[in-house]
Amino acid sequence: ERSFIVSSPGKTILFGEHAVVYGATAVAASISLRTYCRIEPSEKPEIVIKMRDIGTKHSWPLESLPWKAVPAKDVFHPPNTLNNEIVAALEKLLTNEKKSPLVFLSMLCILYLYLQIGSPTQGCVITINSEVPLGAGLGSSATVSVDVATCLLLFFGFIQPPITGESLGRAETLTLIEAWSFIGECCIQGSPSGIDNAAATHGGLIAFRKSTAKTTAMKQFLKLENPLSVLVTDTKQPKSTKELIQRVFRLRERSPLVIDSIFQTIDGISRSAIEALETVTDVFRLREVLGELIFINQKMLEALNVSHVTIEQVINATKSIGPTKLTGAGGGGCTVTLRNTDCSNEMVEDVITELDSLKNSVYDIQLGGPG
Ligand code: MEV
Repeated sequence: ERSFIVSSPGKTILFGEHAVVYGATAVAASISLRTYCRIEPSEKPEIVIKMRDIGTKHSWPLESLPWKAVPAKDVFHPPNTLNNEIVAALEKLLTNEKKSPLVFLSMLCILYLYLQIGSPTQGCVITINSEVPLGAGLGSSATVSVDVATCLLLFFGFIQPPITGESLGRAETLTLIEAWSFIGECCIQGSPSGIDNAAATHGGLIAFRKSTAKTTAMKQFLKLENPLSVLVTDTKQPKSTKELIQRVFRLRERSPLVIDSIFQTIDGISRSAIEALETVTDVFRLREVLGELIFINQKMLEALNVSHVTIEQVINATKSIGPTKLTGAGGGGCTVTLRNTDCSNEMVEDVITELDSLKNSVYDIQLGGPG
């Protein structure tokens, strides 16, 4: 039977969120929270998607979907952005549906749709379970996109476990998964940079830059000499990544000179962090340098108007144990705190108790797990 179970890690952006959408360098790390996905054939001609964590189950009869048969070879050359064809199909799927979280589910169908060869007869059931808090800035949507893309590529036989293609090596297979998951991310986020699905695909610590008119794409896997642990705090304040990306877009439209120079500063922060990660061998010194950069990066994000009172509350509560910045889109969501080397476990416990009393969820996380 063609049933598969896959998983991928959430991520935390250490440096460079938002600016990365405009071509600045960013640094992301996978975290130890993962999303799991199972695909199995359905007896009925329908696609069923179950997301246990949000108690959603939805099914589409195959005949109701706007299928497009693509030649098998095209599966290996996914579009590099949302083309009109995909947008039209997505809109059709969304008619009569409430937008969220069905927008998630429609995105899954799009992937199914584009991977299908010939007219579809085989239905499937996709079940998703996630440890990554949804919509908190830890890349939950990217983990879903990566998992579903991988499941579908396996289900239709384009790749084989353990994640290699017939004629593709592991690296090429991962590139294929990353490219398909990017389409899923585009459906959910509008115009993402691609850093979230890159982190969920490859895992580890990644320096990332997308290509724009002025910048060339870069993806560099950084080696961590010593394990880095951080506190990730979920403020539980809901936010929409799509709306926050649009907020920054409008700000930049009004004041391009100012905002572009903030992006440039953020690019400098990320580059300095990469240099430190690559060259500073003394752990104490490395934490000191990264800590200063976290502090400055947060100030830049505040200037971009993507911080939030709940984030500032966490920054104050964690001051005694280390510098904190928002991670991901901001506007609520999660923060990341790099622990000072000289703070005791007791101090950390006290801070966690205070954060808990402010209704946050705190995760003590090791950075850089497998993709
Ligand atoms: C979201 O995790 C990070 C943003 O920079 C958007 C993106 O890069 O796609 C806000």
